Amino acid sequence: MSAALLDVPVVDGIPFARAGRDDLRAEVAGLLAHGEVDRARVALLADADDWWTEPAPPAEQLARVPAAGTLREAMALLGMGRVADYFAHRWSDPTHLAGLALLQAHWPGTRPVVDVACGTGAHLRELVRRGCTDLLGVDVVWAKLWLARRFVCPSARYVCADLTAAPDLDVTTPAYVMCHDAFYFLRDKPAAAAAMHALAGPGGTVVVGHAHVADPHGEPLTPEGYAAVLGTDLLYDDAELTAALLAGRAPRPAGTASLAASEAIALVAGDPLSPAPVDLGEPLPPLSPNPLYVDGELTWPSDRYAREYGPRSAHLPARWPDPLPADAARRRLLVDLPEAW
Ligand SMILES: C[S@@+](CC[C@H](N)C(=O)[O-])C[C@H]1O[C@@H](n2cnc3c(N)ncnc32)[C@H](O)[C@@H]1O
Repeated sequence: MSAALLDVPVVDGIPFARAGRDDLRAEVAGLLAHGEVDRARVALLADADDWWTEPAPPAEQLARVPAAGTLREAMALLGMGRVADYFAHRWSDPTHLAGLALLQAHWPGTRPVVDVACGTGAHLRELVRRGCTDLLGVDVVWAKLWLARRFVCPSARYVCADLTAAPDLDVTTPAYVMCHDAFYFLRDKPAAAAAMHALAGPGGTVVVGHAHVADPHGEPLTPEGYAAVLGTDLLYDDAELTAALLAGRAPRPAGTASLAASEAIALVAGDPLSPAPVDLGEPLPPLSPNPLYVDGELTWPSDRYAREYGPRSAHLPARWPDPLPADAARRRLLVDLPEAW
């Protein structure tokens, strides 16, 4: 482990190196020095995104998180609200499928992979199940990494850090550095792009998925702006990526001018590598019925989720089809949920 990572407190195997949290780091280190691992974990589980407006749940509630039997139970105890809906149903949402299409077209192979802003690790889980072994997930929210390690992808390595102020993360280069559904949030995009390129190293690959353009959430750039900051002209429309995965075909890259009206785009910089030798459009068994179907009806977890993903989820019919179509798994009527979903 790098000297920088040896200097920060580690709870449940996840170093806490988040920038701007010196007081919390000192508190956690002090608790660990007194053997108070449970209290240290509670302190870390209470730490959230800077933009999160809800208060942290009471410490007694957070102390029950390790005993949760499922991802959803743990997220409920953590008080994650709408973010819990997003992570619980990541397996069939159109932006996750777009991320899979990017991996399909630009496969890391045996390269080390860093998933920046990995959240609860849905993409890392897919990579592990497809044979990738050298995986690192980085996120600013320690609780999300804890969920990833406990419920979604235990075999990856995790570090809690801010992409733009991370310590040496011990990544062998050339690496494959990806960031899905998060780059548009980052305020200092030149610094974020530079950090991703530095992690990838010479000859490495930088992949940014679902970067908002017309969608106003976060702090979006134009396609030209993203292309310039990442130093690439290999771009895709996000909806085209989703459609390509669902159709089992290669996605078509697009020029910046034609992407001006896209809700979101994706970019690949550095070595574009080759397509995956496997079909990520076909989820791996064991498969379960998509839990968005309740009593045979497609039932969104909230109005907010319905507004965001409903119009972009034509692959999910309103009613559970009987008999199931031959492409039920490709359309995510059947999904590969984590064992303790
Ligand atoms: C919408 S989620 C996407 C999660 C994951 N990439 C996925 O596709 O499922 C955005 C994530 O970005 C993380 N994040 C935001 N700013 C960050 C930063 N500066 N460095 C690392 N992670 C960050 C958040 O904590 C959150 O988990």
